[in-house]
Amino acid sequence: MAIAKEDLINAATEAREHAYSKYSGYSVGAAIVDDQGRLHVGCNIENAAYPLGSCAEAGAIAAMIQEGGSRIERIAIVGGHDAIAPCTPCGGCRQRIHEFSDDNTVIIVIDDSDEWQEYSIAELLPASFHLD
Ligand code: THU
Repeated sequence: MAIAKEDLINAATEAREHAYSKYSGYSVGAAIVDDQGRLHVGCNIENAAYPLGSCAEAGAIAAMIQEGGSRIERIAIVGGHDAIAPCTPCGGCRQRIHEFSDDNTVIIVIDDSDEWQEYSIAELLPASFHLD
């Protein structure tokens, strides 16, 4: 059975609890449904050497690829809080998501206030870079 949107958001929220964000204090969780209907999650992992930190989306995509998935059907990203903007994916993660997306990929962004928005990758990354 297809994973419901609420379950996908819950998975990203749970993943967020594992975030290692001691330097920014900004925790993020991501959950992907892949082309085979399977769930993959990731959280941001920071480092004392700041540039080595990795985003939640990168972790979820790495899990998807490692487990044999090839396309993001839906991705939910949970971060931020309602006093600031919700965590729309950073520029680098838009390119990462683009690599494994198509026109039907749905990107769900949610914050602590339980508000959510849905985007396509074309909305988040117009005039994108690609090699084919
Ligand atoms: N972060 C993500 O995990 N995903 C994004 O799309 C934006 C930013 C993380 C990176 C860093 O650990 C923290 O949020 C603050 O930038």
